[in-house]
Amino acid sequence: MPLKFLLPWSRPKARPKTKSRKSVYVTRRFPDSGILALKKKGYAVEVYPEDQIIPRKLLLQKVRGVDALLSLLTDRIDDEVLKAAGPQLKIVANYAVGFDNVDVAAAKKRGIVVTNTPSDKVNEAVAEHTFALMISLARRIPEADVFSKGKKYTGWSPNNFIGTDLYGKTLGIIGAGRIGAAAARRGVKGFGMRLVYSDMHACPQIEKELGAKRLTMEKLLQTSDFVSLHVPLLPSTRHLISIDELTLMKKTAFIINTARGPVVDEKALLRALKTKRIAGAGIDVFECEPAIDCDLTDNLELRSFPNVILTPHIASATIEARQAMSLVAAQNIIAVLSGNPALNPAK
Ligand code: GLV
Ligand code: GLV
Repeated sequence: MPLKFLLPWSRPKARPKTKSRKSVYVTRRFPDSGILALKKKGYAVEVYPEDQIIPRKLLLQKVRGVDALLSLLTDRIDDEVLKAAGPQLKIVANYAVGFDNVDVAAAKKRGIVVTNTPSDKVNEAVAEHTFALMISLARRIPEADVFSKGKKYTGWSPNNFIGTDLYGKTLGIIGAGRIGAAAARRGVKGFGMRLVYSDMHACPQIEKELGAKRLTMEKLLQTSDFVSLHVPLLPSTRHLISIDELTLMKKTAFIINTARGPVVDEKALLRALKTKRIAGAGIDVFECEPAIDCDLTDNLELRSFPNVILTPHIASATIEARQAMSLVAAQNIIAVLSGNPALNPAK
C-alpha cells in the first residue's frame, strides 16, 4: 500500500486570517486527526509545511497573533517565543508526553496554559518499544541480523549468538507512572519477569496487580537484570543515572532508556560500557539530541559497542500513538479556546 494511505499527513491550505476566527499555529506536519478536529471547529490552522524543525526566526514570526501554538518536543518554547506571540496566546499544546522543552513557569506568569499528550496508546507504544529494545539486547537481534544478511551463516552452532532469557529475570522500573506501569505489565504478564520499582510515590496498583516490590533506587539497581527508565526530565532527574548508579548495577544487567536522554550521564554510561561494568544498553533518547554522542574527545562512541542498541527517539512512533497524540493536543486547544479548563495541563 502506498505510504500516503497509511500516513494521512495533513496538507493545510493557507487560509486568510480574520479577527473572528481563532488561530492555531502548528510547528510541523504529523498524523492529522487533531488538525482535522481543529479545522472542523472553524479555527484558522496553519502548519509549518516542511518535515524539519522550524527555524527559530520563522517560529518567532509565525507565533505572532495566534491564539494557540501546537509545538513539538524539538521546539524550544521559552519566554521569547511566548512574548513574540502576544497577549492573546492562550495555550501551548506540546505534541509529546514530555514537556521539558517548554518553559512552563514563564507560560504560567503570562497566563498561558501548557498541555501535553498523555494517552493510553502512547503508554502502550512506548512500553512495546521498551521491550523491543530489551529483547533485541537479550537475544542480540541486531548483531544476528547483520550476520545473517552478511551471508556469514554457514550452519547451526551451539555457540552462535548466545543471549540471555527475560523469563525469570528481575525487571527494575524507575518511574512507575503510566508508561512505567505499561512496561511493568508486559514484563510480568508477557515474559514472566519479577518486578521491582522505585518511585517517589508508592504505586499500590502495580503492587497488587503485578506483585511489584517498591525499592530504593540503590537496591533496585543492585537487584535488577533489566533496568528501565520512565521518569520525566526534571532538574531532580538530570543525570539520575551516573557512574555511582551504574557501578551498583550487576555486571550482567542491561539498562534501557526511552525517557529522556539527560536522565543518563552519557559520559558515565560510555565508561561503564567500556569497562564492562554492565552488559549493555538500549537507548532511544540521547543526552545531546539530536547528536548521538555529546563529546567525542574521549574517543568513546555509543555506536561502537555491539551490546548497545540505538533507536532515534521513536518509542511512541506508531500510527496509533501519533494519531492519539494529535487528537489529544487538539482537544486541549479546543477546551482552552472555548474557555474551559485544559484536559492535560503540564504539571
Ligand atoms: C516523546 O518523547 C514524548 O515525550 O512524547
Ligand atoms: C516517552 O516519553 C517517549 O520517549 O516517547
